[in-house]
Amino acid sequence: MRTPIVAGNWKMNKTVEGSLQLIAELLPLLQDTAGVEVVLCPPFTSLWAAHQALRGAPVGLGGQDMHWEFSGAYTGEVSAEMLLTCGCRYIILGHSERRAYFSETDETVNRKLLASLKIGLIPIVCVGETLQERQGNVTQQVVRQQVRGAFTGVEPADVSRVIVAYEPVWAIGTGLTATPAQAQEVHAFIRALLSESYGTAAAASVRIQYGGSVKPENAGELFAQPDIDGGLIGGASLQAGPFAAIVKATVNVSREA
Ligand code: 13P
Repeated sequence: MRTPIVAGNWKMNKTVEGSLQLIAELLPLLQDTAGVEVVLCPPFTSLWAAHQALRGAPVGLGGQDMHWEFSGAYTGEVSAEMLLTCGCRYIILGHSERRAYFSETDETVNRKLLASLKIGLIPIVCVGETLQERQGNVTQQVVRQQVRGAFTGVEPADVSRVIVAYEPVWAIGTGLTATPAQAQEVHAFIRALLSESYGTAAAASVRIQYGGSVKPENAGELFAQPDIDGGLIGGASLQAGPFAAIVKATVNVSREA
């Protein structure tokens, strides 16, 4: 059974105070979330405070990026152990904003993914094509390269711990959402790729989230698709009501792996 997972990627938003306020608003709305894994990914500076505020709540915590080395002279970077001991169980890796603005490559995403698995964080690895790539009919090539790149060296035993987020770059923060059929097609393609490398059973156990302008109005039909196992939510995760409504849209869509 794949449990759907809805994660809020707050990106570079919310001070500590703002984070605590949003969590206080969210918690009463997220009491009845059986059957869905809910995760919040605030900025690094809010993680420890968020961890304290979420104690006992059915909500996990994740970071938005990390370094692949475990410690050392890497000014400005944060390690997997730092995140783990701040209360994180999840880590977003290879977000398109990191690829576009901070020179993240398939190789660095892969190093981070292997490091996250080694320390016991659950990686949420992001893949997705740009508008130009979609229009040029190279979506599958791009996604194949990103998925293969990210999973290089991942042992079969670890595959089911990895979460993939399909986030078409043209749908992020633009208000343009992939149609359920467009998203399902790429999700099925990603699952087929994993199946080629790891076999059908392992591929069927991997959760694949959709991300890109998910809102309460479109979440239900996206998450009802057979290969879409919840979402990675940006803008709509910054407000309690819309995020909780998206979580509610996911309840009862868990499916056989
Ligand atoms: P939006 O939901 O704001 O489009 O962002 C999606 C995203 O990038 C989540 O990681």
